[in-house]
Amino acid sequence: MELSRRTVIAGAAAGIAATTTVGTAQATAGGRKPVKELFGRLADGTKVHRWSLENGGTRLKVLSYGGIVQTLEFPDRHGRRKNVVLGFDTIDDYVAKSPYFGALIGRYGNRIGKGRFTLDGKTYQLSVNDGENSLHGGAKGFDKRIWDVEPFTEDSDVGLHLHYTSVDGEMGYPGTLKAKVTYTLTRHGDWRIDYEATTDKATVLNLTSHVYWNLAGEGSGTIEDHELTIAASRYTPTDSGLIPTGESAKVAGTPFDFRHGKAIGQDIRAGHPQQVQAKGYDHNWVLDKGITARPEHIATLRDPRSGRTLKIATDQPGLQFYSGNFLDGTLVGTGSHTYRQGDALCLETQHFPDSPNHAHFPSTVLRPGQTYRTSTVHSFDA
Ligand code: BGC
Repeated sequence: MELSRRTVIAGAAAGIAATTTVGTAQATAGGRKPVKELFGRLADGTKVHRWSLENGGTRLKVLSYGGIVQTLEFPDRHGRRKNVVLGFDTIDDYVAKSPYFGALIGRYGNRIGKGRFTLDGKTYQLSVNDGENSLHGGAKGFDKRIWDVEPFTEDSDVGLHLHYTSVDGEMGYPGTLKAKVTYTLTRHGDWRIDYEATTDKATVLNLTSHVYWNLAGEGSGTIEDHELTIAASRYTPTDSGLIPTGESAKVAGTPFDFRHGKAIGQDIRAGHPQQVQAKGYDHNWVLDKGITARPEHIATLRDPRSGRTLKIATDQPGLQFYSGNFLDGTLVGTGSHTYRQGDALCLETQHFPDSPNHAHFPSTVLRPGQTYRTSTVHSFDA
């Protein structure tokens, strides 16, 4: 099966809203018009802008570089708002050393083994940037590109449309790919991401967002006390290069069982060979619901101290849960705190890593004439 028809249809059903540019429209129901400012410049002088959005109690700051969510704030049970994502203060830090903080990931979320795949009888060699493998789109993925940003207000929603055209052969991927990502803040304070793309040659595609969450507050220490629930009975074990072996293993009776919710730290030192290899959790969970026409709730993350709760709904078949294993105390973020191992976690909704090399994984192939559409919704509560 090609890129599942249901995935392709999913966003159409969700309906990508028509845009109304800021300046000509009023935001409603607590939503504020997105505000633009200069954030910095790349070495070649290219301007990087930052957009500030607010609606329903949630605040977002988004960069035109990588579509990066620099900060995301929402209140705890006492109404205290805090930034709950890792990020940097300057564009120079993002360019020099960001481990994908808050960024859009493309063309392919997570790894492709040896950076190589064969499609329609032709083998493509991708940019290799993680040992012998290609990670998150290669050396200069979507996280390091300047996106065209267009703000909108629509009914009670506020948001941004982000556009990027990836040329044929970029990072080794075939086809000119036109990508559009929409960040919407709803009047309930939900952050919704709608991804859309077309190609002029058959290619593979797996877009996601790489936000590092710490619901107690950015830079406040470990996330091991956060409780996580994932609606998945299986996960995809990996080899030592973190490439899926192709197997889909049961979580039952292993540290990978998050079906009933548990503190992340509970079993993180259980000594399971898969954890030792990954230095913690860094795996794709096979969501029980499979690919769905619309986003369905698949994971809940809760910080018991503040009460802050994140719920994730997606139409995608997989979730990469990465427990911040490679944060090593060398990065200092927006709150002037050092980030150490386990100080944040990522929950990346996606197709499975290395799918182009595993025919039995749901397909990530996109062909001319098809439109890639997928959506993920983050809801916040306390
Ligand atoms: C991957 C990790 C990787 C990290 C980069 C995650 O999505 O699963 O293996 O180190 O991104 O920051």
